[in-house]
Amino acid sequence: MEGRELHEAIMELARRRGFFWPSFEIYGGLRGFYTYGNLGTKLKRNIEKAWRRFFVDPHGFLELDTPVLNPLRVFKASGHLEHFKDVMVECLKCHRVFRADHLIEEEAGLEYVEAMGEEAIRRLLREKGIRCPECGGDLSEPQEFLTMFQTQIGPMGGEPGFARPEAAQGMFLNFKLGFHHARERLPFALAQIGKVMRNEISPRRGLLRLREFTIMELELFFDPQEGQCPWFKEVSDESVKLITEEMEAEGFKEPLEVTLGEAVESGYIKTEWQAYFMGVSKRFITYLGVPPERQRFRAHLPEERSHYSTQTYDHEVYLESWGWIEIAGHAYRTDYDLKAHQKASGVDLTVRRADGSRFLPHVVEPSFGLDRLVYVALEVAYRKRDGRTVLALPRWIAPIQAAVMPLVTRDGLPERAREIWSQLKDAGLTVEYEEKGSIGKRYARQDEIGTPIAVTVDYQTLEDDTVTLRDRDSWRQVRQEASRLPELLRSYINGEREFDELGRPL
Ligand code: ATP
Ligand code: GLY
Repeated sequence: MEGRELHEAIMELARRRGFFWPSFEIYGGLRGFYTYGNLGTKLKRNIEKAWRRFFVDPHGFLELDTPVLNPLRVFKASGHLEHFKDVMVECLKCHRVFRADHLIEEEAGLEYVEAMGEEAIRRLLREKGIRCPECGGDLSEPQEFLTMFQTQIGPMGGEPGFARPEAAQGMFLNFKLGFHHARERLPFALAQIGKVMRNEISPRRGLLRLREFTIMELELFFDPQEGQCPWFKEVSDESVKLITEEMEAEGFKEPLEVTLGEAVESGYIKTEWQAYFMGVSKRFITYLGVPPERQRFRAHLPEERSHYSTQTYDHEVYLESWGWIEIAGHAYRTDYDLKAHQKASGVDLTVRRADGSRFLPHVVEPSFGLDRLVYVALEVAYRKRDGRTVLALPRWIAPIQAAVMPLVTRDGLPERAREIWSQLKDAGLTVEYEEKGSIGKRYARQDEIGTPIAVTVDYQTLEDDTVTLRDRDSWRQVRQEASRLPELLRSYINGEREFDELGRPL
């Protein structure tokens, strides 16, 4: 399956099994909002956990949780009020609105039109004779649209407020206290997982373009005189596919394959600090099940770059449904944000070097959209086997880690199965008990929601207390003593053991 059909199959599965579905359905729905069900919530939580494991925990970085709603002052100072805009066009006949760069990409078969700048967008709309894809009507002149949601804070409309479009500003506003909590030593990072909102002109492709989504962001603060990142050697041999700014400008589409060490040496990536997180990023995305050959990093041209960035690499993943899509941005934000907030607030945000000189730290930022990762993980894991669907999620992110089922619902088998279920839950595993339907149907359901292991209690269990363990991906089975399951399954889920090591083959 590929293209649209694959996307539709995943959206159907997501709804039927309770991963996610469009919000506000009983009121006719509203584009750009999705609701997560039980399995989706668990999958999301596991991806968050993985992100912390790769980005936050190794160096003891600090996490924050800051407000979604911010006063005008914040986004005036940060530059978002002036710059956080997309170009839109309206159909003069049916009055539908479209994001101009995406419309050109779809109607004229071009790529990365945003990177060409606003003038090129105007010219292409004219030159390609683009019309409304819905009704064929004429389009308006393109105009800029502020994609932040605005409201009033307080009952008398005291102060305009904006929903944050990124979590990063929370880290900059709290830099001083964060620095203090980090024992006043650089480098250190503030990280945050939280909701953001963007009034996207044309939300589409399910979870890939939402108006409210979760971002996982980290701001690493370092001394710009300190060019060497102490952790860089952990990833410098990692090879990556790059489309550099020069390649982008000259229209080369085939990425260059280099190690991160070479990429820094050749100047393709400006700082080791940024290159370090690109290496971690590749490992993190591989851990979520995306093979390295389906990953690349693409540099932004100056027109495409955010106002705060001097270099941005998008981490892209190849999807059978939509081609290359961005899942993370790696931006070198320099001291842009701290400088802006220092100026607007009048608060000194500088720190002191050992020699007494004061400076504003520089920042590199990896920024991931969690909802895109949920979709990517599902699509990459989606398989068909003998006409049945198997979600081959890496077992460490599977929403349900094991399902316990009695072979039949009589003769004491359900009671024993429930006891085993309880023991596994007590051992900290996420386990389902399932007795409804035939055993074949139950296996099929668990395969379809990505449960790595099914534990079956049968008549032999009553004699020798062994159970059958079934592997989701190979459908092979092994036999093992029930009492050993908590320990064995925990290590299996963590990736410390393979299926064959779980018991005696059947
Ligand atoms: P795009 O060019 O696709 O609009 P962007 O460049 O604006 O994305 P960033 O501002 O870099 O995206 O946001 C960081 C991350 O947040 C992206 O890599 C992506 O994973 C995620 N993201 C951005 N916009 C959305 C959205 N509308 N819905 C879901 N996730 C999003
Ligand atoms: N903080 C990255 C972004 O929102 O673009």
